Amino acid sequence: MVPRHIAIIMDGNGRWATERQLPRMAGHRRGVANIQNVIRTLAHRGVAVATLYAFSTENWRRPSAEVNALMEILAEEIEPQTRELHEAGVRLVHLGDPSPLDGKLQDAIARAERITEANDRFLLNVAFNYGGRDEILSAVRRILADGLSPDQVNEELFGRYLYTDGCPDPDLIIRTGGEQRLSNFLIWQAAYSEYYHTPVLWPDLGEEELDRALAEYGQRQRRFGALDGQEEA
Ligand code: IPE
Ligand code: IPE
Ligand code: MG
Repeated sequence: MVPRHIAIIMDGNGRWATERQLPRMAGHRRGVANIQNVIRTLAHRGVAVATLYAFSTENWRRPSAEVNALMEILAEEIEPQTRELHEAGVRLVHLGDPSPLDGKLQDAIARAERITEANDRFLLNVAFNYGGRDEILSAVRRILADGLSPDQVNEELFGRYLYTDGCPDPDLIIRTGGEQRLSNFLIWQAAYSEYYHTPVLWPDLGEEELDRALAEYGQRQRRFGALDGQEEA
């Protein structure tokens, strides 16, 4: 079975650069350059949805020079990357809180979403200024603001208040760069996701390692709390 939705924690850009005695910024640039390759490979393998973790709500804690560099890279790359993805029939959706971002960046993100809105060959969610706890709190606030009563709040309704509204939960979460944690990524949606981690750094993630992840996923038995062979119930 090929996973329908793969979410990737794109970690290791800084170490990729440091290993080469380059500034961390060079690693982030190489990281962006790898996005198209990975999406192309996933689409060829029959995956329909990818979610990429690009900037967390906690990444603001980094030195301001690094935060500024990351914002600059997004501002520069969003148009050319969107053009290429659009040509490939990819729909782009932003996950996260755009409000602390520069106004021009917010406009560019909204434009990328609008341009690619009708594409249905592949869905690419980009999590930028995304945090799972922030997403859940924002859902709770809007549910309260909408005046819903406790008996109306169930998993299905709650899901509609999340950034991922309408998107299936990730079947497989891949983390590059060797760490084994979620770092506040899709903490609601990951309830039953399979998990794969690799020491390969994000700028180096290629077909070979992706195929290894897909092969391992193919061996996993997903039970969703049921007993073997009963998962359809
Ligand atoms: C991931 O790479 C990209 C972001 C979090 C923005 P890192 O910048 O975390 O790279 P390492 O973990 O320091 O190598
Ligand atoms: C997770 O990477 C966030 C992104 C890849 C955007 P971090 O490098 O920020 O994670 P921690 O701090 O090591 O948990
Ligand atoms: Mg990191």
